[in-house]
Amino acid sequence: MKERIAAICSHLSYAEVFADIGCDHGYMTEYMLGHHLAERAYISDISADSLKKAERLLTAYIREGRCIPVVADGLDGIPEPCGLVLIAGMGGEEIISILRRRTLPERFVLQPMKNSEKVRRFLVESGAHIQCDETFSEGNVRVKYYDLIAGERTGGDTYSELQFRYGRDNLLTPGAAFLSQMRTEAGKLEERIARPGIKETARVALMEKLNEIRGILYEAERTL
Ligand SMILES: C[S@@+](CC[C@H](N)C(=O)[O-])C[C@H]1O[C@@H](n2cnc3c(N)ncnc32)[C@H](O)[C@@H]1O
Repeated sequence: MKERIAAICSHLSYAEVFADIGCDHGYMTEYMLGHHLAERAYISDISADSLKKAERLLTAYIREGRCIPVVADGLDGIPEPCGLVLIAGMGGEEIISILRRRTLPERFVLQPMKNSEKVRRFLVESGAHIQCDETFSEGNVRVKYYDLIAGERTGGDTYSELQFRYGRDNLLTPGAAFLSQMRTEAGKLEERIARPGIKETARVALMEKLNEIRGILYEAERTL
C-alpha cells in the first residue's frame, strides 16, 4: 500500500455507514470493509470511469450489498447520514464546496491537495472540532507532503492565524514531516531571495515568509 493511502487509512475508525467521496481506486473503502470498520460503505465519484476502478476492486462487497457505488457530485448521491466521510486527494476548495452543501458529517477525514488553510477556516467557522491537523510525507528521494485534517461536526475550536496557515498540530507538536517540509521551504525561499536582479518588493515579501518559517523552526527546535 502506498504511504499516502496507508497514512490516510490510519486515521479511519469504525462507522456503521462510511462514505468515500471521490473514491477513484477505492483502496480506502477496501481497507474499511476488509478490517470490519464499517457495516456498509458508499463509494462515490463524479466520474463514472473512475468509479469503475473501485467497483472492480470491491466487486465482492458490492455483490454482498455492503458497498454501494454512486456516480455523483460530492455527497449528492448518498441517501442516508454517514457516521464517517472521507474526502481525500482533492483540492481544498472542492472539498469545501462539497461539505458546504450539506450538514457537516458526524466525523470526517480530509486530505486536501492544496488550500488546506481554507479548509481549516471553513471547519472552524462551521463549529467543527478538529482532532488531528498534521502534515505527513511520502517518499525519501522525491518527498511529497500532504495535510491530514480529521475531526467531528461539533465541539468547536479556536485557531490562531499561524495555526490556520500551517496546521495546528504541526505547530503544537511538530513532527518530522512538517519540519522537513519547513526546512525545504526555507531553502527554496533563500534561493529565490539570492537570485540576482530580484525586485525589492518581491524580496521583502519572500523575506517576510522566510522569517515566519525560521520562527516556526526556531520554536520547534527549541522545544524538541
Ligand atoms: C486524485 S483522485 C483521489 C482518489 C482518492 N480519494 C485518493 O485520495 O487516492 C480524485 C478523485 O475525485 C473525483 N472527484 C473530483 N471532484 C469530485 C466531486 N465534486 N465529487 C465526487 N468526486 C469528485 C475525481 O473524479 C477523482 O476520481
